[in-house]
Amino acid sequence: MGAGYVGLVTAACFARLGNHVRVLEVDAQRVEQLRGGVLPIREPGLDQLVEESLDAGRLTFDSDPDSTHGSRLSIVCVGTLDGDGDWTAGTVQAALETLARDADGPRGIVVRSTLLPGTGRKLAETVKAIDPRIQLALNPEFTREGAAVSDFMEPDRVVIGVEDPAAPSALLDDLRRLYAPLDAPIVVTDLTSAEAIKVASNVFLATKISFANELARLCAAMGADVQSVVDGMGLDKRIGRSFLSPGPGFGGSCFPSQSRALPDLARRAGVDAPIMSALAASNEGQADWLLDRLESTASRSVDGWRVALLGLTFKADTDDLRESPALQLARRLVARGASVVCFDPLATAAGVAALRAEGLDVTAADSAEAACSAADAVVVATEWPQFRLLEWQAIARQMRGTFVADARHVVDVDEASRAGLTVIALGVVAKPAAVLVAVEDPAVAAAPLAVTAPR
Ligand code: UDX
Repeated sequence: MGAGYVGLVTAACFARLGNHVRVLEVDAQRVEQLRGGVLPIREPGLDQLVEESLDAGRLTFDSDPDSTHGSRLSIVCVGTLDGDGDWTAGTVQAALETLARDADGPRGIVVRSTLLPGTGRKLAETVKAIDPRIQLALNPEFTREGAAVSDFMEPDRVVIGVEDPAAPSALLDDLRRLYAPLDAPIVVTDLTSAEAIKVASNVFLATKISFANELARLCAAMGADVQSVVDGMGLDKRIGRSFLSPGPGFGGSCFPSQSRALPDLARRAGVDAPIMSALAASNEGQADWLLDRLESTASRSVDGWRVALLGLTFKADTDDLRESPALQLARRLVARGASVVCFDPLATAAGVAALRAEGLDVTAADSAEAACSAADAVVVATEWPQFRLLEWQAIARQMRGTFVADARHVVDVDEASRAGLTVIALGVVAKPAAVLVAVEDPAVAAAPLAVTAPR
């Protein structure tokens, strides 16, 4: 149920594993497109999987609720964010009630949508009040955008929450069979613990990123190279290197909303959780810290500057702009008086439209080079691979100023420095393009100066 991001990946992957999957989607237009193999989202490998399973007759799309009749189980994959990007269980509840009221539909229901801990137990009561034969299980997903198919097919673990983990359950047996080909450990637990595994995993990763972001600030203040620091820390198996890269802050549909919701839940439960409660502010502060560094390196404010913003999506290889830190950088630049010219390989128009809808007067460029033309400074906000290959010599000739703030560690610092630019990097201490030395008598200074790189 639900042909969104999670639903389509789940349906296509289970169909690939040899199951017959009928996707129920309320949007009739989306159903028509999907029947023709046209996907509403971008996800590497997903279109091939959908096409292959459509051809093999293992995948069908329908907007008629009766199409669930005869299925062995239902998997609910409907969205859980409201218009403000905050969590709501309302859509899941409505989907479950529809399924429960249809006595001819499957009585085993699995919720894959992300639920706040405690929600599943209440939902189980709701559906059982409609039909006591119904069994409810939770099966949270841990897939990243841009890598969802491989994350599904090669999971670190499969988590299944059931009403009573100790009791025999036909639904649990079915889920075990569904996942048997994947060779992954299966964690079976109660409903609330399954929900907590999902949310805590995301909030823990968000904490790890925020720790790296704060470490970047401290390293910059101490004159240490944060990239060496996180590499050195990451070699410790207890720590691990992944999700320890500092950047402009985390974004997307999961980390920000869940980093707000988990401390809220703690507050409502009367639980003191200072670490979780600090996450949102730490994340939001990263954009201002980056711009403070740009301004202190330039010894002036960006007020009146033309700034090229390269990258608008919340990470590379997606067109998703939800809670993107790049948009936050744009907001903070405009608040400081800069005029911002945006370029993103996939989302320039959508990103500029979103910012303009907030009343920000930003403009669009149709290439990175065009955005940088006549710019006083460049801010690299998303780690698109093509930004690693930018020709800084050519860009520097077109720029008005000389500053490049690299929030993603993708700028070739040596090449940019050779082009006369000053890179404000995460981890590499900024190299000045030139050092001016004032001496009393220039004739005496004809002897070569010994210059060492600044630490
Ligand atoms: C995340 C989880 O990884 C996934 O398991 C869950 O199912 C959904 O949420 P996703 O939102 O697709 O996936 O993005 P992810 O790749 O995890 O990145 C999240 C954000 O953190 C991005 O803005 C990314 O740029 C940022 N990030 C990630 C860092 O700043 N540093 C890192 O080291 C890793």
